[in-house]
Amino acid sequence: MSSDPAGAIAAAGLDPERIPRHVAVIMDGNGRWAKKRLMNRVLGHEQGMETVREIVRASREIGISVLTLYAFSTENWARPKAEVMALMTLLRRFLKSERQEMVQNHIRLNAIGQTERLPKDVRDSLDETKGLTAENQGMVLNLSLSYGGRTEITEMVQSIARKAAKGEIDPETITEETVADHLYTKGMPDPDLMIRTSGEMRISNFLLWQLAYAEFFITETLWPDFTKEEYYDILKAYGRRERRFGKVLR
Ligand code: IPE
Ligand code: IPE
Ligand code: MG
Repeated sequence: MSSDPAGAIAAAGLDPERIPRHVAVIMDGNGRWAKKRLMNRVLGHEQGMETVREIVRASREIGISVLTLYAFSTENWARPKAEVMALMTLLRRFLKSERQEMVQNHIRLNAIGQTERLPKDVRDSLDETKGLTAENQGMVLNLSLSYGGRTEITEMVQSIARKAAKGEIDPETITEETVADHLYTKGMPDPDLMIRTSGEMRISNFLLWQLAYAEFFITETLWPDFTKEEYYDILKAYGRRERRFGKVLR
């Protein structure tokens, strides 16, 4: 893979001044993709993994700093046990198979969510891949695993309240920065762009605080059918959006 983001940006026809720093993706539609083919939902998740590979590479190529992928929500634990188990197996496989490429491409793996709820073998693979890539500076691949925005906010409140009770934080001095520093995404810029595949017009408990001013793009394409070409088209359209942040610009 090219390690020349400027060249890749030009080749893709993107505006180098309008590349988002942080892209967040709700990877939805694996089940529908499989259903359309009269296949088991799990095969849709398997095909979805191929798209993950392609989009991780495409993001790295053009120098995205943070790519957050919604892989498993707190609500997804309520799916049939066989599907949850299959997803966990796929996740463990992914964490192993992509290790080498992440190291080569200077990608740092991070996970956000209640990862303590994951099965031990998945947690072990996760820790190993995180450890191996910990020093990488190229791009953060942020996997949302057992992630829920409301849980994240609840845990943030608990940790700030605990510090306040111990006298370490004065409630009067709590700012938006204090809140951001107690979320799973501490130290990361907020997403500039949020993409959801499969057409659903909802946020499904994803990054509730962090998406405050992200640009939203919803495509009808099912996640296993999503391609690098469509991704770059969305990035082009993002470049044409006017981000006002509540202000009057002209
Ligand atoms: C997204 O695809 C993957 C996960 C939520 C793990 P879905 O499994 O939600 O696919 P649909 O929405 O049923 O098509
Ligand atoms: C959101 O998709 C979660 C992930 C992509 C991991 P869901 O399929 O779980 O969301 P809903 O049920 O359509 O809101
Ligand atoms: Mg879905």
